[in-house]
Amino acid sequence: MTPWGSHVLSFASLDSTSRYLWRQAEAGAPLGTVVVADEQLSGRGRRGRQWHSPAGLNLYFSVLLRPSVKLEKVPQFALVAVAALWQALRTECSGLTIKWPNDLFCRGLKLAGILSEMKPGAGSAEFVIIGIGLNVNAGIIDFPLELREQVTSLSCECQKTFVLGLLLESVLKELAVFTEIFYSEGLGGSICDLINHNFYLAERDIVIQSGAQSIPCRAHSIDDSGGLVATVADGSKVSFNAGEAQLVK
Ligand code: BTN
Repeated sequence: MTPWGSHVLSFASLDSTSRYLWRQAEAGAPLGTVVVADEQLSGRGRRGRQWHSPAGLNLYFSVLLRPSVKLEKVPQFALVAVAALWQALRTECSGLTIKWPNDLFCRGLKLAGILSEMKPGAGSAEFVIIGIGLNVNAGIIDFPLELREQVTSLSCECQKTFVLGLLLESVLKELAVFTEIFYSEGLGGSICDLINHNFYLAERDIVIQSGAQSIPCRAHSIDDSGGLVATVADGSKVSFNAGEAQLVK
């Protein structure tokens, strides 16, 4: 099993755990290396966004993989990670859902996000870095004003304080388990089932932002390759393999 957690580098403050781990990976850090920080000064989200990372309240960590899967399968690791996150937290917080491509939601609010980055190698990735930001003990006033209606934390949902180290341990444990499942059966078996059983977008009207395009459609499920299956305006079913989904209000 991938030894995630056997090599954890812990910091009070970093610019970004993913950026730090990238440098370590280039210098030869072993697979399974984890970098965690109490705060990030320049936490990064998808599509060039920032990830708000105040000190001591939440989990910000990145894990290193050196997988031997084909290049086109590498983006599926983000879905493996969100499924593992759901599994690790399911008993802590009820009503967790997964929003394609790889966010964890609760009551329609974002609880965690995943940033997956890779350095291409010959036929596969030289390495993959999965960065996870999980809102844990932040109260709503700890978020910037403009995010307050879109986000939540475990403590906002459950009215209790969580021990960050214990949560990290259980997420790392499930990441190891889910990575093994992915290597043995691919995304298409139990991982896909878990996501589709807890799929935030199922049968909702959404708009997919893909590059400069905005595509209105009705979302259904994810398929075996992690694509979002949706019905578009002309009635045909399409599988989207990249983009961001927004609910139509
Ligand atoms: C998203 O946009 O939803 C993805 C957010 C990912 C944030 C995490 S926090 C740990 C790691 N380090 C970063 O700079 N970003 C990721």
